[in-house]
Amino acid sequence: MSKVVVTGGAGFLGSHLCDALIALGNEVVCIDNFLSGSKDNIAHLMDNPRFTLIIADVSLPINEKLSGLSAIFHFASPASPNPASPVSYMAHPVETMLVNSIGSKYMLDLAVENNCQIILASTSEVYGDPEVHPQPETYLGNVSSIGPRSCYDESKRFMEALAFAYLRSKSAKIKVIRIFNTYGPRMMLDEGRFIPAIVDSYLHQKPFFMHGKGVATRSFCYVDDLIAGIMAVYRKGVEGEVINLGNPQEYSLVEVLDVLKEVTGRAIEVVYKEGLVDDPQRRKPDITKAKEMLDWSPTVSLPEGLRKMIESYSR
Ligand SMILES: NC(=O)c1ccc[n+]([C@@H]2O[C@H](COP(=O)([O-])OP(=O)(O)OC[C@H]3O[C@@H](n4cnc5c(N)ncnc54)[C@H](O)[C@@H]3O)[C@@H](O)[C@H]2O)c1
Repeated sequence: MSKVVVTGGAGFLGSHLCDALIALGNEVVCIDNFLSGSKDNIAHLMDNPRFTLIIADVSLPINEKLSGLSAIFHFASPASPNPASPVSYMAHPVETMLVNSIGSKYMLDLAVENNCQIILASTSEVYGDPEVHPQPETYLGNVSSIGPRSCYDESKRFMEALAFAYLRSKSAKIKVIRIFNTYGPRMMLDEGRFIPAIVDSYLHQKPFFMHGKGVATRSFCYVDDLIAGIMAVYRKGVEGEVINLGNPQEYSLVEVLDVLKEVTGRAIEVVYKEGLVDDPQRRKPDITKAKEMLDWSPTVSLPEGLRKMIESYSR
């Protein structure tokens, strides 16, 4: 049995990751301060003897001695870009910068101490508003260092740079994944990200506020596919690599609304508002590297994923 740490384990992705790791027979230590996550996401794990919850801010030193680890998954960080959401990184800009910088330092130190691999959850936001399309890992990005999204984008870029500094100076076993928009059950419907917001609007028959004209594109990955990709990263010897994980099927936001209508048989009411500052206009991962190195690619289409997500919330 392997012992692993998941920071941000009470969040959307972290909790699905805890489930997958437990299912594989691992002992999981989840560290979370519930800044943007929820106890509900891990309620089903609390009685499991192979699951431990430490309620703590990973930007501060952890009091517990964590030894005998075989892997660390550093996923703690707010992730919603919607300024209106109380759990977004714009609502917690300083905390976001600290968890991705100092929090990453503590987790990298822990990985070196345990001589174990560390998988760091980076993001497609490191590409900013991309001038290269689709985005391969070699693209260096087009990011504002001072705009409202910079607390997230630049701290994730710092996290990546720090991870590579640890690789070069301390031979840390780092694996960096750049996650593109992922959706599915356990997202908070009112957290402000696009897919939960339209699902919320459909389920509760309330207007959806579209920032901009809806022509910007995104590529949406269903959570089961992403978790399969992360587990492949965990299993394979891809230390020192940066790998994009996401679904390359690209849709404009308006097209996604059409897919939702097809799936549900009902259109939602859309209210158009001003576009957001520095909002990326195009977003699509180049996943050639993931296909080659991990033998992984997503299998769930957007209509199928939306159907699954709506079913889960209807239950
Ligand atoms: N979901 C996506 O589409 C997506 C895309 C790109 C990158 N990511 C990255 O994946 C990770 C998880 O994202 P998510 O969508 O599950 O977000 P989430 O907000 O649901 O989960 C993040 C978790 O981290 C916890 N957390 C935040 N700051 C913390 C701190 N200082 N100490 C301890 N816990 C803390 C939160 O309480 C929450 O449970 C994040 O690092 C995010 O940047 C997600």
